[in-house]
Amino acid sequence: MEKILIIDDDKLNLKVLKETLSRVGYRVIEAENGEAGLLLVHSELPDLVITDFQMPGMDGLEVLAEIRKFNMGLPVILLTGYGDVVLTIKSIQLGAFDFLEKPIDPFQLKTTIQLALNSVKVSNSLNEVLHHDMSRESMIENNILVGKTQQMKEIFKNIGRISLNKVNVLIQGETGTGKELIARLVHYSGITSNQPLVIVNCSALTETLLESELFGHVKGSFTGSIRDKKGKFELAGEGSIFLDEISEISLNTQVKLLRVIQELEFERVGGEEVIPMKARIITATNRNLETLIKEGKFREDLYYRLKVFTIDLPPLRDRKDDIRDLVIHFLHKLNKRFNKSVVKIGEGVVEMLKAHDWHGNVRELENTILQAIVMSKSDVLERDNITLNNMGTRAIQLKQEIPQFRTLADMEKFHIKRILDEVNWNKLETSKILDITRPTLNAKIEKYNLVREIELV
Ligand SMILES: Nc1ncnc2c1ncn2[C@@H]1O[C@H](COP(=O)(O)OP(=O)(O)OP(=O)(O)O)[C@@H](O)[C@H]1O
Ligand SMILES: [Mg+2]
Repeated sequence: MEKILIIDDDKLNLKVLKETLSRVGYRVIEAENGEAGLLLVHSELPDLVITDFQMPGMDGLEVLAEIRKFNMGLPVILLTGYGDVVLTIKSIQLGAFDFLEKPIDPFQLKTTIQLALNSVKVSNSLNEVLHHDMSRESMIENNILVGKTQQMKEIFKNIGRISLNKVNVLIQGETGTGKELIARLVHYSGITSNQPLVIVNCSALTETLLESELFGHVKGSFTGSIRDKKGKFELAGEGSIFLDEISEISLNTQVKLLRVIQELEFERVGGEEVIPMKARIITATNRNLETLIKEGKFREDLYYRLKVFTIDLPPLRDRKDDIRDLVIHFLHKLNKRFNKSVVKIGEGVVEMLKAHDWHGNVRELENTILQAIVMSKSDVLERDNITLNNMGTRAIQLKQEIPQFRTLADMEKFHIKRILDEVNWNKLETSKILDITRPTLNAKIEKYNLVREIELV
């Protein structure tokens, strides 16, 4: 019979848990605080520990940290009243098996216990947490990522799990779902956090420029290369390189990238010196790479090298329970930036926002709040100040009169700018409406010097 130790200062909770677990055949021992619990870990050698997070004296994380000093394999499940990103990641980094929120769902608890006990039998892979260095955790202390829904919590847990080794991570999600933010979290919550994070937007550069950006070049290797230049892989050192919009790289560059991943070394463009590659590669895409593989536009072998670990960010419409917290977060952030003090949320606002389908996801929500803050004349975020964009990917009604143009280019510039503005500068959406690729769109934005204007009243 497996022995479970429960540590909780709440006697009632202790009793309920004990009854639930005894009924399904576990032997349960209990302690009312962390210190007493640790003594029982030594004397009673339980097979699993369940500990509350908030207790007078030692808290659950401290109990976990103490246990990990001498026992790497003992599964620990943390219980908490408040879920937050930092706590979830910390507990998983410290080697908690899982993190459950109160009120505890008995079924979930039982399943988690079974999984934990099985995992001990199957492997002792928890060894990695031994060398964990607590000081890095301050890097993620400013909790900028909002997400309390189950889907987001699972993502945070997974980030905790991968943060102690340098597996390559592929982040997939629609535009505006927070891929870049997640890439930063992966970097700063892990063993790479004291090392550089280098970001490359693959869609912004032509093939030749991208290669020289990534690998560097030596003087004279092509026109305009007047001195040696280090590439992003070199600059990332032992940290992370974030290749954003990875679907946009050419097949040629894909071959070169694959080679770097396989051989863990590369040369600068035009150079001979072999440089070791030690960085973790984080990639992001809002296009379906498997479809691109079928179409022959993306290499399957590269895909498997990049997606050692995948994070799928759900669209905002599938996690509407995060909307309220996101609104509060954006009010804080944007009030500060625009020197406003919209601190209250008007009646029906959250419901109205929840009813919208957010094709531009969190970015669209942020822009909507920004517009509303700018428009507001009081300290309340009012329904009347919120403009929702209901056009989606469907045809856009052109409301404005078209001015008189002399050249086709003028007309093109005007048209692109108008569509960008209509969809809040959501480039994916714009390229779909205009029926051009994103690199083409980016090139045109650059060519016409298009910039986004934020009107302040
Ligand atoms: N969970 C979140 N909490 C707080 N802010 C968020 C969250 N997710 C996204 N944001 C904000 O939304 C905006 C868009 O996020 P981000 O740039 O990471 O999206 P993306 O998926 O990379 O979009 P794209 O595919 O268009 O590049 C940013 O301003 C980011 O700070
Ligand atoms: Mg992005």
